[in-house]
Amino acid sequence: MKLFSADIQDLRTLYTTNLKKAYDMEIKITKALPDLIEHATDTDLMDAFQQHLEQTRGHVAAVENLLIRHLGEAQTETCKVINGLTTEASDTIKDVTDTSVCDIALIGAAQQVEHHEIAVYGTLRRWAELLGLEEDATILEAIESEEENADAVLSEISERVNLVGAA
Ligand SMILES: [Fe+2]
Repeated sequence: MKLFSADIQDLRTLYTTNLKKAYDMEIKITKALPDLIEHATDTDLMDAFQQHLEQTRGHVAAVENLLIRHLGEAQTETCKVINGLTTEASDTIKDVTDTSVCDIALIGAAQQVEHHEIAVYGTLRRWAELLGLEEDATILEAIESEEENADAVLSEISERVNLVGAA
């Protein structure tokens, strides 16, 4: 029984530490998305980025609430992955000059972020379930499906934009 409790305690710390990283990640995405919106030329792509920016602000608030609930305050812990992905995205924006290729590159950069987010929330949701935090799991699953939907929208747009860029 003691061992079991120690494991739960450990997983809870792992869980809250990774919530702090998710919080950092979402804040950084709200700062990166305006740059993608500014450089996108396809109107559907601009709209998709704009819509996901609104959703991302909701994710910031949702993760912040979870942290306050568990720790009494919302703190960040550096998400090194998002630092790398946003650096890649801004390097791409600087390097690609052709507009149709730029849209392709922006979609690629954004989808890498979405895939990382899907992995982050899928993991957090499973840990919440293991900890018996059903309400957390429901919130995290809702965020996860918004990320999956954002990824699907980008895939749909890329089918058209990629053809233009390749022409
Ligand atoms: Fe998000």
